Formats: sequence, C-alpha cells, structure tokens
Amino acid sequence: MMLPRLITFLALNSMASAVPSVMPRIAVTHSVLIGVPGQILTADLTETSFKITNKASTGAGSDYSWMRYKNSTDTVYAVNEYGSEVTAFKLDHLDVKNGNPATGSAGVVFLEFNKDQTRMIGAGYGSSMLDVWDTSVAGAPKLLKSVNVTISYPSSGPLGNKPHQALFDPTGDWLVVPDLGADRLLIADAKADSYKVINAVSLKAESGPRHGGFIKSDDRTFYVVACELSNQVHLYEFKYSDNGPEFVHLAEQSTYGPDIKPKNTTSAAAGALLVASNNRDIYISNRLSGDTEDNIAHFIFDAKTTNLTFAGSVPTGGVNPRSISFDASESILFVTNVAGPLGVTAINRCAASGHLGAKPFAGMKLTDLLPDGADPATVGPQFVAAI
Ligand SMILES: *[C@@H]1O[C@H](CO)[C@@H](O)[C@H](O)[C@H]1NC(C)=O
Ligand SMILES: *[C@@H]1O[C@H](CO)[C@@H](O)[C@H](O)[C@H]1NC(C)=O
Ligand SMILES: *[C@@H]1O[C@H](CO)[C@@H](O)[C@H](O)[C@H]1NC(C)=O
Ligand SMILES: *[C@@H]1O[C@H](CO)[C@@H](O)[C@H](O)[C@H]1NC(C)=O
Repeated sequence: MMLPRLITFLALNSMASAVPSVMPRIAVTHSVLIGVPGQILTADLTETSFKITNKASTGAGSDYSWMRYKNSTDTVYAVNEYGSEVTAFKLDHLDVKNGNPATGSAGVVFLEFNKDQTRMIGAGYGSSMLDVWDTSVAGAPKLLKSVNVTISYPSSGPLGNKPHQALFDPTGDWLVVPDLGADRLLIADAKADSYKVINAVSLKAESGPRHGGFIKSDDRTFYVVACELSNQVHLYEFKYSDNGPEFVHLAEQSTYGPDIKPKNTTSAAAGALLVASNNRDIYISNRLSGDTEDNIAHFIFDAKTTNLTFAGSVPTGGVNPRSISFDASESILFVTNVAGPLGVTAINRCAASGHLGAKPFAGMKLTDLLPDGADPATVGPQFVAAI
C-alpha cells in the first residue's frame, strides 16, 4: 500500500542527487483500521497528517469494536460487540453489510489469531464464552466450538465470568484468558483444537485482569497483565511442566508508576497492554484517570533480574484510550481515545530506548470519525490497528 509513494519519493530523491549532504526523510505512509460504533474507517498517516481513506456504515446499534486483519487472504475479521456476528470482508471494500457473516457468542470484545492464522479466538466478555473460529480459508469464518468458561471455573464475584482477552502463548499450544469478572487467569489447552480450560490462577478480589502479553527470555517465559479494577500490573513467570503450564507470581505495582494513584480512583480503569517484540518494553493504557488527558505508561522488563520497572508515561491527546497498536517497525504507537478530543493519535516510539514521545505528533479529531448524527458525548472510537 505504501510502495507506490515510496517509489515516487525515491525517484525524486535520486533526481535530486546532484545536491549533496541533506538526506530528506522518506515519507512513509502508515495505514490504520478504526472501529467506531456504527462505522468502520481506514486512514493513512503521512508525516504528521492523518487522512481518512475510506469509511463504511455498519448500521445503527452495531459496534465492531475489535478486528483482526489476515494479510495472506486480504481479509478483515470484525466482531460486533453489541451482537454476536463475526464478519469477514476485504480491506478494499470495507463493507461489513455485504461481507461474509457468521454467528458466534454474544458480547465478544477481542479476537486474536494463532501463529499461522488458521484459528482465531473470540473472548466473550458478555457471554462467558470463548469462540474458536477456523480462519484457514477466506470468506466467512467457521465456528469450531464455543467453550463456556463458567462451567469449569465459575466466578464467585458479582460480575460473573467475563473473559476479556485470549492470547496464544509463544509455543502456540496454550491459550491464556484473563477473566475480568472472576479475577482469574485461565489456561486452555489449544492442542488438537481442544481448548479445554486446564488450569487457573486467582488474583485478589476486584483486580479485574483485562489484557496481558507474553515476554520471552531465552528459555523462560513471562506474562504481564493489566488489571482494570485495581489498576495494577502483575508479572508472572509462565512455567511449563508435564501437567501443562502454570503461573508463578513475581510482582505487582500500579499501572501509573510506583506509589502513584490515579486522580479519580473510582473511574480509573487500566485498559490495553502491548509487549514490544524486543521482549523488554511494555505499554499500558491508563483510562479514565480523572485528568484532562489519559496516558500510556511504559514499563521495562529486565530479563536478568526479572524486575519490571516503570519508565514514564505520556498523554494520549484525549480520554479513555481503549486500544493501542504498533506500526510494523514499532516506531509509532497508535491510540484510540473513546472520549476525545482527539479520537485517534500517533505517538513516536524510540525503538532503541522504548521511550515514547512527550505527546502525540499526529491526531484526528474524534468528531471527524463519528457516523453522521452520532453524539460525541456518548460515542467514540473503540479500536485502532495498524494494517
Ligand atoms: C503478511 O504480513 C507479514 C508480517 O508483516 C509478512 O511477513 C508477509 O510477507 C505478509 N504476506 C503477504 C502475502 O502480504
Ligand atoms: C454457561 O454455563 C452456565 C453454567 O452452567 C450457564 O448458566 C450459562 O447459561 C452458560 N452460558 C451459555 C452462553 O451457554
Ligand atoms: C470520579 O469518577 C466517578 C465515576 O465515574 C464519578 O462519579 C465522579 O464524579 C468522579 N469524581 C470526580 C471528582 O470527578
Ligand atoms: C531488581 O532486582 C534486584 C535483584 O533481584 C533487586 O535487588 C532490586 O531491588 C530490584 N530493583 C527494583 C527497582 O525492584
């Protein structure tokens, strides 16, 4: 997608090669996919400007709040959090209404592939279910099974079971599911399409584990998880044994940094978590902190000591950063702010140090992303992913 521009630029650049010394920056364009209640959009970021390239209505009362793109078949899978459909469509057409829908469980808030993208798991926050999809061929995904988390590990808390994410471990044999309502991390056996929940670890009541990520360090594996209710980040070792993996708790601290409490502890709700591919930098979105802008916190994992250290936080250009995504080179962090004023922003990331730019270098106004007639006080972008 960025190639034609790049070639044009390089051609211009070589024509100008008689002029020595100053090497102009190459104007790379980054594309993002954005989900808003009632609408899906794509946009391009070039230098410091975003431009909406396409948008399509998904219909009133729909919220395609999580999507995954399979580039080998040029297929976007989008899940309607307000319903139970997962729809496959081509990125160019961006058309949920004329896509290939399939029915899964209700209230799914997260989708992720296995390594070869032949399976995709949906986490059914609203239904306590885990949906297992066959995504090996283009077209509508095929529901292989739905696993009811309540049956194996019922919640004793007031929220019931609320699986919020499902990630394959680095071996691809196991699935880890933060159950936000039950204050548990579940481990399911992903071998031979079993997906039976075989183990679980409990967190303190009202922790609300939401999104996690794996860290590989030589032959050891670690797992970090951001907790929405306690605003704590927990670090575990993910230890393999003959009976399957288990979690060994190593440390916990505030997602805001040491001894820092959010301004409003009632509303604060840690959200997304990303681990960089260097297995060192971890980013967590702190939502609804009570400040005029929320922030992204950066933590550094030291493989030698297994310490997780707060390295700083930067504002997101708005409130309620629900989703974050790296570009392919991990030099930009894209953020969605559900409550604006900027709806989608881009923050520089230094790949060497992992540090984030002091503030977003580009952004789109929330109001520019909404379907016609939507109220910016109640509707905002839910999802962003670089594509
Ligand atoms: C899909 O993306 C991956 C990772 O960015 C890349 O290695 C691969 O070449 C891409 N495949 C196609 C068909 O574009
Ligand atoms: C999951 O299992 C529980 C306990 O048996 C049951 O109450 C609930 O209805 C089931 N959920 C679904 C979506 O089937
Ligand atoms: C803190 O958040 C709660 C829940 O959203 C809200 O009711 C309350 O007004 C907020 N407090 C302040 C001081 O803004
Ligand atoms: C890091 O780990 C070392 C060795 O376990 C420990 O002595 C030190 O206190 C830790 N530092 C922090 C900041 O936690």
